[in-house]
Amino acid sequence: MSNYHIKHLEEYFQLYRKSVREPENFWEEIAEEHFVWKKRWERVFRWDFTKPEVAWFEGAKLNITENCLDRHLYVRGNKTAILFEPNDPKEEAQYITYKQLHARVCKLANVLKEQGVQKGDRVCIYLPMIPELAISVLACARIGAIHSVVFAGFSSQALATRINDCDCKMVITSDGSYRGAKTTDLKGIVDQSLESCPGVKSVLVVKRTAASIHMEKGRDHWLQPLLDKVSDVCAAEVMDAEDPLFILYTSGSTGKPKGMVHSSGGYMVFTAYTFKNIFRYQENDVYWCTADIGWITGHSYIVYGPLANGATTVMFEGVPSYPDYGRFWDVVAKHKVTQFYTAPTAIRALAKESLDFVDAHDLSSLKVLGTVGEPINEEAWHWYNNNIGRNKSPIVDTWWQTETGGIMISPIPFVTPTTPTYATLPFIGIQPALMDEQGEELMGNQVEGRLCIKFPWPSMARTIWGDHKRYYETYFSTYKNMYFTGDGALRNAVGYYRITGRVDDVIIVSGHNLGTAPIEDAINEHPAVSESAIVGFPHDIKGNALYGFVILKEVGESRDRDNLRKEINQQITEHIGPIAKLEKIQFVPGLPKTRSGKIMRRILRKIASQDTDNLGDISTLLNPEVVASIIKDAL
Ligand code: WTA
Repeated sequence: MSNYHIKHLEEYFQLYRKSVREPENFWEEIAEEHFVWKKRWERVFRWDFTKPEVAWFEGAKLNITENCLDRHLYVRGNKTAILFEPNDPKEEAQYITYKQLHARVCKLANVLKEQGVQKGDRVCIYLPMIPELAISVLACARIGAIHSVVFAGFSSQALATRINDCDCKMVITSDGSYRGAKTTDLKGIVDQSLESCPGVKSVLVVKRTAASIHMEKGRDHWLQPLLDKVSDVCAAEVMDAEDPLFILYTSGSTGKPKGMVHSSGGYMVFTAYTFKNIFRYQENDVYWCTADIGWITGHSYIVYGPLANGATTVMFEGVPSYPDYGRFWDVVAKHKVTQFYTAPTAIRALAKESLDFVDAHDLSSLKVLGTVGEPINEEAWHWYNNNIGRNKSPIVDTWWQTETGGIMISPIPFVTPTTPTYATLPFIGIQPALMDEQGEELMGNQVEGRLCIKFPWPSMARTIWGDHKRYYETYFSTYKNMYFTGDGALRNAVGYYRITGRVDDVIIVSGHNLGTAPIEDAINEHPAVSESAIVGFPHDIKGNALYGFVILKEVGESRDRDNLRKEINQQITEHIGPIAKLEKIQFVPGLPKTRSGKIMRRILRKIASQDTDNLGDISTLLNPEVVASIIKDAL
């Protein structure tokens, strides 16, 4: 297991240097020693960021599910692969062993085939956090179908956009979902979406809530009876390392969501290798990541990374506040969780509640804590460290993105000394660069700039589904020969990185990426609205919240303002989902614009964060007078 499990800082530096000086040898050794391939690669990698074109382990053949399932059957067949903790603590947890998971994945794979799904076809998965979600993902991978998981909190319109963008021919969903005290009619949402998705030929429905739902004849099928009829043996499709494994949508600052395409060989190698080291996973550990599989964190660090390591991975259906704010800690104690990985927004929400919720539970099993999705503020970091980690479980603050597929900058626990709010050092093989606004790389320490990556890594997205030009323009056109992340960062005196936040029009609310343009489009469809602009402002729990500046068509619009606000949020819920609702809505007579007609969001951001003492030069605006009026009425 040389190289695979990093044990001290010197070893990290040694491996890091090797990964930079001899990347071929480095990655070849990892790929050779720790994975099963059906055929070896012809070359380790090939890249050209000007196109951009990147390939890893080209020529190799594999199936990722054989690495996540089959190869564990003899060694740890009876070990729990997925530990399912239901929403309701009174419902029993499920312990799905590797053998059982393998059989269930094969069965579902056979059903997919029977329904006419073939290698390369796209399958949309719109499911709550129940075992069938992970099983569906793996069943697609088993037969080489490309999964596109859509977070089950997205609205029917958002779902339809994603289904149509990549021409899914099938949707896998459930009758309903439980989250906290709420039950959602998921199938109803799917039915609505499908009115505008003519390409979908079949819908498989998992029974979860037993709600009475509409089943469209010829199109909709209950899953269980189909599973009952098929074999639990399904040979894994032979895939090229570069064949697409999945599509996952992420918000952009403009236009429709971007379907990031990930391929299988490099993605497998990198997610497995990072998982092993960043969570220091050991054979009898119980690892829990609280993310939803609808996001990249769930893909890489609930499903693929852990299973490729033969880990026990917890899937939690519920929410941290149900039945009370002690639920996370109750689950940790109940299952003796050893690694716990969550979002800063959850930590902040829980830190607001009484410590009794924590103290009522035995958290002594915990060894490593992690955070992801947004910068963690110092206060939340200390609360997590003192109360959950009891000052002895290192916190790995992991920076990465849907596009990067795996963790890029993070401490390695018990190896890298941690500093609150710092993601610390690049992972092995990752070569970050900080750039100034002129496009020059900032060398040395104590510099702040825009975060780029200057060398390829195995799990980077290969393209945007159906729009390679947009892939180039978004990520590779800003700085020559660099992948641009959209984030700002600084490097301190010892070379540690701290992520300072987005530098584009993406706003991270409760750890979810939201693009401003789609939200503005949704608002503008309200008949009373003529124009709008959204910005983020600091929020205690969510990190950022959304502030909308809205111009009404008729200044004297007679409707009650609070009702209008409700309708606008309703409009957003329908177009995108409740996660994109606005915290504050201010009706304004105009928006500050440059002479070329571009909204000056910098000014609106300052107004929204009540920081209007230093607005900078506004005299070049087309309409400087509007600024004073907006400030006067700011919420
Ligand atoms: C932000 C989530 C600070 C960042 C895996 C990035 C972070 C975006 C961190 C990607 C972190 C993620 N510290 N910021 N540890 N992790 N981010 O695609 O702005 O949902 O660009 O992937 O989240 O969000 P995404």
